[in-house]
Amino acid sequence: MTKIFLPNAEATKSLGVKLGEFLPPGSTILLSGDLGTGKTTLVQGIGEGLGIIEPIVSPTFTLINEYPEGRIPLYHLDLYRLESGEVEGLNVETYWEGIETPLGIVAIEWAERLPYLPPSYLNLELTHSNDSGRYAQLTPFGNFDLNAIALPK
Ligand SMILES: Nc1ncnc2c1ncn2[C@@H]1O[C@H](COP(=O)(O)OP(=O)(O)OP(=O)(O)O)[C@@H](O)[C@H]1O
Ligand SMILES: [Mg+2]
Repeated sequence: MTKIFLPNAEATKSLGVKLGEFLPPGSTILLSGDLGTGKTTLVQGIGEGLGIIEPIVSPTFTLINEYPEGRIPLYHLDLYRLESGEVEGLNVETYWEGIETPLGIVAIEWAERLPYLPPSYLNLELTHSNDSGRYAQLTPFGNFDLNAIALPK
């Protein structure tokens, strides 16, 4: 587990940029953390790191936004409005298995709502710090390799 202090939104974005620059296709990031802790901000950074020009907007209502035009595709999901049972019908595994879409980065907000998990993923939990900043706690599972990324101290 790696814990990083993010003093402001720019720092959250920069962490995302690093992930977007270096993660290989087939990387899944499960984002958790209270309302407004910076999950969407981090994914906006991933989009920037991938070279996506199109603005990354919160998929709270659309559930899934697909951005195919960067270094590798970005699939941005937000499960906030769903019950665990409803998530099942989304077949989110088709994204991390690359069955109907090319493999890319899958970033899932409110991943706590997933009824099942991918074989490998990065768990990224954001929490409020005592001042106005945030903490990011990164925990890789399965074969997910965090060493490819030069994380900020
Ligand atoms: N490290 C940080 N320090 C201070 N503010 C931050 C930090 N990271 C992000 N923010 C700010 O927090 C606010 C909420 O960010 P964001 O919308 O990304 O959160 P979220 O976790 O996606 O929220 P939701 O749960 O509603 O989806 C934004 O104003 C953003 O600029
Ligand atoms: Mg959000």
